Amino acid sequence: MTTHKNRQTDLIHAPRQAPQYIETVQPPLFRASTIIFQSTAHLFDRHWTDAYDYSYGTHGTPTTFTLADNIAQIEGGSYCLLAPSGLSAINLVNSTVLNTGDEVWVADNIYGPNLEHLNNLQDRYGITVRVYNPIDADSFQPTEKSKLIWLEAAGSVTLEFPDLKNLVKKAKLANVSTALDNTWGAGLAFNAFDFSDEHLSVDITIHALTKYPSGGGDILMGSVVTRDQALHHKLFRMHAIQGISVSGDDTAQIQRSLAHMSLRYEQQAQSTNTLIDWLKQQPQFSQVLHPSNPDSAGHFFWKEICSTGKSAGLVSVIFKPEYDLTAVRKFCDNLNLFKLGFSWGGPISLVMLYDLKPMRSLENTHLQQGLLVRFCIGLEHPKDLIQDIQNALKQLE
Ligand SMILES: Cc1ncc(COP(=O)(O)O)c(C=O)c1O
Repeated sequence: MTTHKNRQTDLIHAPRQAPQYIETVQPPLFRASTIIFQSTAHLFDRHWTDAYDYSYGTHGTPTTFTLADNIAQIEGGSYCLLAPSGLSAINLVNSTVLNTGDEVWVADNIYGPNLEHLNNLQDRYGITVRVYNPIDADSFQPTEKSKLIWLEAAGSVTLEFPDLKNLVKKAKLANVSTALDNTWGAGLAFNAFDFSDEHLSVDITIHALTKYPSGGGDILMGSVVTRDQALHHKLFRMHAIQGISVSGDDTAQIQRSLAHMSLRYEQQAQSTNTLIDWLKQQPQFSQVLHPSNPDSAGHFFWKEICSTGKSAGLVSVIFKPEYDLTAVRKFCDNLNLFKLGFSWGGPISLVMLYDLKPMRSLENTHLQQGLLVRFCIGLEHPKDLIQDIQNALKQLE
């Protein structure tokens, strides 16, 4: 055992190194800003395009590369970059693909903060944001300036499933890059890189790992997955330039939760289906929005793409117009198991209320007038969740 003359040095250079090769159920956790090079040859021979460029913490560690490879595999892609949140992953795509003068297309039901980010780019960098109706592929009219279309299946809040097949085909013909927010499908409901009987593929998926992969309602992270190496390298370069990186501890937590993600996804979907059957019978609601509901816009496209019948645990209801904001707030406040909060995919059921009017720019004839409440179904027993909603509805009488 080497000891040094000064205790101070012994404190830093421990005599025993942790063994590098023992087998454990969970992969070892690496935390690193500095990564130590074995020699100057290792330092000078490396290149940033190496699959595993162990040179500095922001570029990745075995911990982050393990999760990234796992996410790429689950989503059906080849390459994955991790970002500190889903929104940061969205930002990485926008800032890599878009330049001054370009046009970007977004669905009318796009995840709100993505639209906010793009509107900001529009104001500052002269990028034009154009809106299409996700269930009407004809409303997507790409021009020579169009560089990117954002897809979301199903869309945030109102959960219309888009005409993915025709939108992607049209984008490919017009040379427009396709980016899908795959958070709802989580790589489990359908394969974004090989869907429909025509084996279509989007170019990029982003995934808010904050939802199902984390599963705890406690960790934020995002991913960007691609199949094309040149596109991956463009994203990778921007990832490095912007200093986007994730913590080893957070990554290890998500890696641990991945093992049971599909079980949680299916359980939450099953509970959601039980709730949908009940919600549809309640006279206070004029509409129950969920892709599996034949009354929901985009149901046909959901059946086409999610042929195994899978869906996430999100369902929205529209209150009849006689229930004003005061009544709907009272309903939300009187829920007990459903907690008022953003996000989804965690163990606790969540509720959020929305006024759709300021959120949309197109006419949405498929949606009834009224305030919308979105339920995110957690892992509680569905009968208890129904009871909770029933109690809150009773208090409106
Ligand atoms: C559809 C969708 N995409 C992206 C995000 C962003 O994820 P994060 O909260 O990790 O930034 C969210 C978050 O609610 C979301 O619902």
